[in-house]
Order: sequence, then structure tokens, then C-alpha cells
Amino acid sequence: NLPNHFDGDVDLGIIGGTGLYKLDCLEEIAVLPEMVTPWGITSSPITISRVTGDRNHLHVAFIARHGLHHEFPPSKVPFRANIAALKHLHCKAVLSFSAVGSLQSYIKPRDFILPQQIIDRTKGIRDHSYFNDEGLVGHVMFGDPFSRSFADYISQFHDVLQNPDSPLPCLLHHDRELTVVCMEGPQFSTRAESRMYKLLGGHVINMSVLPEAKLARECEMPYQMVCMSTDYDAWMEHEEPVTVESVLGHLGNNSRNANALASKIVQDMAKQLPEFMKTGDGLRNSAKFSISTRPE
Ligand code: ADE
Repeated sequence: NLPNHFDGDVDLGIIGGTGLYKLDCLEEIAVLPEMVTPWGITSSPITISRVTGDRNHLHVAFIARHGLHHEFPPSKVPFRANIAALKHLHCKAVLSFSAVGSLQSYIKPRDFILPQQIIDRTKGIRDHSYFNDEGLVGHVMFGDPFSRSFADYISQFHDVLQNPDSPLPCLLHHDRELTVVCMEGPQFSTRAESRMYKLLGGHVINMSVLPEAKLARECEMPYQMVCMSTDYDAWMEHEEPVTVESVLGHLGNNSRNANALASKIVQDMAKQLPEFMKTGDGLRNSAKFSISTRPE
């Protein structure tokens, strides 16, 4: 019976993916009903949590990307509404989680990855921009689609993935070149496509990083995705290609690790807000100066 409104500013937005519909590490103080925005309705209610630090409170908003019952397939997620809602709540950064397939043998199922690049293999059926409507043209910078400072900040907490409950050791992979391929789905890739994505330079593959990352950039919010590996996709010879069953097999462990990682992150942020959240990570006003429509 939590309140259904919240008046303060939220500091951090968290978007949970497949298998992560709630973060148990967070103490909820309000549940906002699905938010109605000019771009549709958010995919889930938004839970607001408070994390108490030495001097501050940190407020966190959580949205389940695919809905609380996993009712939105990747092509139908209301990405624009979700990101607009987080912006409306004044989030200073967005931390997003997503299950991914691995395109590299050294990235094992259950490993976590902080990608820094994206290859777009979606099919043009999602709304990728707030600047799609006639009358206002904007081209934001997207060469570095994630927040390097946020990724560096997250990587300090890599130790928490050495979870004693976990039968397999898990790593947090973090370097400049790590690339996530975003495919349309909902079917998984063929073996030939999977091999092609490796050749293109992909390290992991999912169906959700786009347009989420683009929209966060248009809203000037530093954005970092934590990818949680569940399978080797379809490129490995003599191995069964990915199935939902293999993905689900690793979700429990991944969600325990995601909780542990998120918990460390929010506790640390509550002690002291990291610099990139205070300064806007160089993104402040970047959208304003990306508009190419001339005033009348
Ligand atoms: N999500 C989890 N595993 C995946 C895969 N192999 N391809 C696309 N999305 C995924």
C-alpha cells in the first residue's frame, strides 16, 4: 500500500530487462502507475525507491522494459514513453540491464559486459527519435553511444559478481571496443547471421539497446547498459543454437548478480553522487544545439 505519487527529483533511472522485473535490493517508497506521455504509456508502473546515504538520500526510479509480466516484445516496447518518463522525473543518468547472447568464446554465459559501441541491425519499425515529427529536425551526436564515465564507475564494483551462491565464476568485461549488436527479433539469429555479426566486430547481441540508448542521448541523460550473457547465440559449431530455455537457464543467476551490482552502485551513489551525474557528462544542452530547424 505505497503512495502512488512522488514529488521530489529522481537521481537515477534503472531499466530492467528480461528476468529483471524488480530490484529486491531497493526499498520502495512509492509506485507510480504507468505514466501517460505524449509518446504513449510506459511499459510498467514506475517504482520509486530511496537509498539512504551518510549525508544524502538517493532516489531511484525503476521501469520493467518488457512490462511486469513480460508482455511487450522488443519491437513493441514503448521506448519513447519509458525514456520520457525518466526524463520527466529528472533522472541524472540511466542504468539499463539486458540479457544478451555472446558472440565471443571468452564471454561466457553469466558474464556481465559494459559495451561501448552499438551496431544497429533493427529493421526500421521502431520509433528511434523524438525528432521524428515534422517541424523539428535534430541530429544528436551518437559516435559514443554509452557513457564512458558511467561504465568506468560501474566497473569498480566488479568484485560483487564473484557471488558465492553462483556455481560459475562470472566476469565483468569492460573495454572501449566492446560492441553490442541490436537485432530486431523476435526470432533469434540464423547461424550464418550470427557468424556475420562476429565478422562485423560484435561481442554480444540483444534486441533492446536500440532505440533506448538513442532516446536517452536525445534527452541528454548519460546512459550505460549492463549486458548479462545468457548463451552463445548460434555461431558455435557443434553446439545447439540459442533457445528460450537456454536463456532462461541463466536468468536466475544473472538477476542475483544484477541485484548485487545495482545495490553496490546505488549505495555508493547515495554516499556521494558521481561527478558525471553532477555535471551531466558533457551532454547538457547537446540536444538543443543539435536542432537544425531554423527559427521563423
Ligand atoms: N538475448 C539473449 N540472448 C540473445 C541472443 N542470442 N540473441 C538476441 N537476443 C538475445
